[in-house]
Amino acid sequence: MLHHPYTRIQFPHSGRPPFVAINMVSSLDGKITSGGKLTPGSLGSPFDRKTMNVLRGHFDAVLTGGSTARQHPYYLGVPSHCEKLRKKRGLRAQPLSIILTRRGNLDPAAPLFTDPPRPPLIITSKQGARSLSPKIKGAANIETSAGGVQDFLKLLFTKYGVNTLLVEGGARTNYEFLQAGLVDQLFLTLAPRLVGSAFDLTMAMGERVLENKPRIILLSHFTRQNELFLRYKLNWEEQE
Ligand SMILES: NC(=O)c1ccc[n+]([C@@H]2O[C@H](COP(=O)([O-])OP(=O)(O)OC[C@H]3O[C@@H](n4cnc5c(N)ncnc54)[C@H](OP(=O)(O)O)[C@@H]3O)[C@@H](O)[C@H]2O)c1
Repeated sequence: MLHHPYTRIQFPHSGRPPFVAINMVSSLDGKITSGGKLTPGSLGSPFDRKTMNVLRGHFDAVLTGGSTARQHPYYLGVPSHCEKLRKKRGLRAQPLSIILTRRGNLDPAAPLFTDPPRPPLIITSKQGARSLSPKIKGAANIETSAGGVQDFLKLLFTKYGVNTLLVEGGARTNYEFLQAGLVDQLFLTLAPRLVGSAFDLTMAMGERVLENKPRIILLSHFTRQNELFLRYKLNWEEQE
């Protein structure tokens, strides 16, 4: 874990709103799912998975949308051997897992709720909170918010001490953060795969073209076998 190009990268650790990065893996034709889902090895390599853990190792919290959480109902944490390094960085041993859901349709039997290293946080609507099972309410912290991304970030900063947030999709969740202009960096793994189907998702999918177009700067790139690892900065002050 120590010998990875992203081990030594640095992020600002205090800020208002929190520093936000997105991390995704995509096929060469721009798809983040294959056959409607992402399964181990369907796009990224084992090294890409390691990269995901290295990145998680830098952040206070890791967030996904409800659809991703239903497909991958696991705690968004790091392997135990990464905990020491997180603590050395002044972080909690495990990042806080955050799930965004309007409907609150989550499975109480999911490992995310039965065996989490820390209580996950669910940000939902009033209706969603009513739909969550008592078991989930006992295992997780629940916050209701009728607002948008900016309000979530404010809540995370003030109540949960989140200075740095890693967003791990999916397409609609990424879109909301990008539409709000609240993504500072983007990590993208370009996997040597082709998907081809029209119904598979791309990295950000919403109703309209993004209103703001940040100047996007390539901060770094490296390859590992046939995979390309890209790190971008999104500068919202300087629109394209
Ligand atoms: N290639 C990759 O790196 C990668 C990474 C992550 C995910 N994925 C794939 O992406 C797919 C899922 O993407 P997706 O676009 O369908 O869904 P998604 O972004 O994972 O989840 C969308 C859901 O998030 C919740 N949500 C979004 N914005 C919200 C808000 N402002 N307030 C409250 N809840 C909000 C809602 O949950 P409810 O429906 O619960 O109300 C919404 O339906 C999966 O197949 C997954 O495997 C790929």
